[in-house]
Amino acid sequence: MNPELKRAAELAVEYIESFDHQKVSEEPDPETLRNKLYKELTADGLPPLQVIDELARDARDGLLNSAGGRFFGWVIGGGIPVSIAADWLTSAWDQNAAAYACSPSAAIIEEVVAGWLKDILGLPQQASYAFVTGCQMAHVTALAAARHKVLADKGWSAEKQGLAGSPPIRVLVGEHHETLLRALRHLGIGTDAVVQVEQKDDGTINVAELKTELEKNPDMPTIVSLAAGDLNRGAFDPFDEVCDLAHAYNAWVHIDGASGLWVASSKRLRHLVKGIEKADSWATDAHKWLNVPYDSGIAFVADPESHKTAMTIPAAYKVEVDNVRDQFEWGPEWSRRARGIPLYAALRTLGRNGVTEMIERCCDLTRDFVLKLGELPGVEVLTTPVINQGLVRFLDPDGDHDTRTLDVITRINASGEAWFGPTLWNGMRVMRVSLSNFRTTPDDIDRVVAAVKVATET
Ligand SMILES: Cc1ncc(COP(=O)(O)O)c(C=O)c1O
Repeated sequence: MNPELKRAAELAVEYIESFDHQKVSEEPDPETLRNKLYKELTADGLPPLQVIDELARDARDGLLNSAGGRFFGWVIGGGIPVSIAADWLTSAWDQNAAAYACSPSAAIIEEVVAGWLKDILGLPQQASYAFVTGCQMAHVTALAAARHKVLADKGWSAEKQGLAGSPPIRVLVGEHHETLLRALRHLGIGTDAVVQVEQKDDGTINVAELKTELEKNPDMPTIVSLAAGDLNRGAFDPFDEVCDLAHAYNAWVHIDGASGLWVASSKRLRHLVKGIEKADSWATDAHKWLNVPYDSGIAFVADPESHKTAMTIPAAYKVEVDNVRDQFEWGPEWSRRARGIPLYAALRTLGRNGVTEMIERCCDLTRDFVLKLGELPGVEVLTTPVINQGLVRFLDPDGDHDTRTLDVITRINASGEAWFGPTLWNGMRVMRVSLSNFRTTPDDIDRVVAAVKVATET
């Protein structure tokens, strides 16, 4: 067996099996890491086994063990072993998933996975799709289709004529992630096009306010962007009602469901995404809550014609094959990784029920976790989880809760028992409790609650 491949596999397994005994973060300083990793680029290279061993050794302290079960920062999932294994095969097979002709199996696997995903997520089966790097590029892809449609309705071709001199587009948003704004920048729509619609106290869009905005300019090309599970409290916009309203004004409805869309897999939670199938486009991630390795986002578009027109390019050297789907006609890239393969393996292994169980388990654990934290003295629960996100803060006897909260987070993270991120919410410094990892167990939660207790007592 090729020695560097064998060694890398051993090191990878060793790493994954070490989570329980490792600190979640070593918190190295950048200079220490630079001292380890900056090497002279030699003229003649080095033996590959030495390179792999030194890479694993030198990078180790700078690896955040976010793939382990005691990591609760941002929205970061782990990797189900079978999806990591399939990801290794993806690298070994090294297929260019640009077009059917470059890799027939990669193209067909994407068709299969897209069908399964639409089924699990409750999206229309006729929706077109693209496998992209993450939800950021899923926004770009879906909103390119939106841009095409709302301008085509006014007799303008965004693809041919560009946006200089085009009818202006407005984008009505409630809760939204920054990547939505960057997608608008990438697409030349610009952030000045964004109209922030008032939100209700629960973080959802105020439908009456949305109607008022739509009514101000009923004929204007309009995109309405909604959130399925926002970052802070997992709030879900009222999709059913908003889709009906927005469509009455010919607006395109886009949904950011980076993680929240996955609740559609659960009968118990599905009510949160009621009406989601009425939208025009959806952006989600598999590298978050489906727990497959990074580089895995998906865009779905209800109107395949708008999607394809926005994305396709003429390729003189295209190999014509009947009755197949060439991926480059639907996504923003040409050469690319065969991203469907780890998803194929994950979904076959989990099955429908396995996905549901993983999603429900994360939600149940998050709720228990936040409630247990709330029982500690000096901990205030700000949002009880609707899904897998909660917010707490640490109270200071002298009233400086912001400083106290940041101090406690620093102490927890320095203990290596867990990792949490701070955020600013409603003008307060708070700690986000975000749990998307299939590895997290009830024992992990108890271990981390004990560590938080210690951090609050110092
Ligand atoms: C709600 C939401 N939308 C979009 C994104 C961007 O996703 P990605 O980082 O996969 O591009 C994130 C990332 O955290 C998110 O939480």
